[in-house]
Amino acid sequence: MGFFRAIASLAIGLTMMVDTWGYVMPHQDPSDILILVNKTNRAPIVPVTLVKPDVTPTKPELSENIYMRPEAAAALEELFDAAAQEGVTLYATSGFRSYSTQKAIYERKLERMDERQANASVAKPGYSEHQTGLAMDVEGETTLGTGLTAQFGESPEGIWLAENCYRFGFIIRYPEGKRSITGYIYEPWHIRYVGREAAAEIEALDVTFEEYILMVRADRVALISGQAEASGDQAVQMEVVQP
Ligand code: DAL
Ligand code: ZN
Repeated sequence: MGFFRAIASLAIGLTMMVDTWGYVMPHQDPSDILILVNKTNRAPIVPVTLVKPDVTPTKPELSENIYMRPEAAAALEELFDAAAQEGVTLYATSGFRSYSTQKAIYERKLERMDERQANASVAKPGYSEHQTGLAMDVEGETTLGTGLTAQFGESPEGIWLAENCYRFGFIIRYPEGKRSITGYIYEPWHIRYVGREAAAEIEALDVTFEEYILMVRADRVALISGQAEASGDQAVQMEVVQP
């Protein structure tokens, strides 16, 4: 941990120079639990083994929407059980999404807002972490029925999740005030499985996943410059460099 702390400021400084999320991971292994999927790194199109975690979906009709990769599903079950033991009731809303599901979600968003706003909250099809089977959108008893909003972050369940998810290998993937780094607005409900070791390091360093990857995977990162803020152009450009 000391090593990571020592290099943290250097790496974070470096990320700031390159518009932070605007770097690419050219040689990612699709099965890598630390795979980086964001506006500049496309989700791999490979068959994924998925299982349904034994947790309660937010609504019965969402029960087919909560599949995850097995290691993430097992960790999610542990997380939900631990929460329940502490009187915190969590629900699972959205896990794995296919390309076409993400496309439908993105297009629905575009019907309600302009492209710039939509791009700040929903990933374009092909670029969502949900396509890896390593992410889950979580809701809590207190705010049930209000949908996925920043309000969840202020609720007892959202606070518990933020404080404890790292113990089970998850991170809050889009923290408050980090849009310039992650490309997305605050999403206190979206957790991403990265494994316990990485989650503990990310928690201790208080960094985003983008910053963390740049620290530990610097040799595999291709830095690019001249990135504008989140827009559709990013995705198109990055398709070219994807192996
Ligand atoms: N809301 C997140 C960014 C997604 O659409 O994957
Ligand atoms: Zn999500």
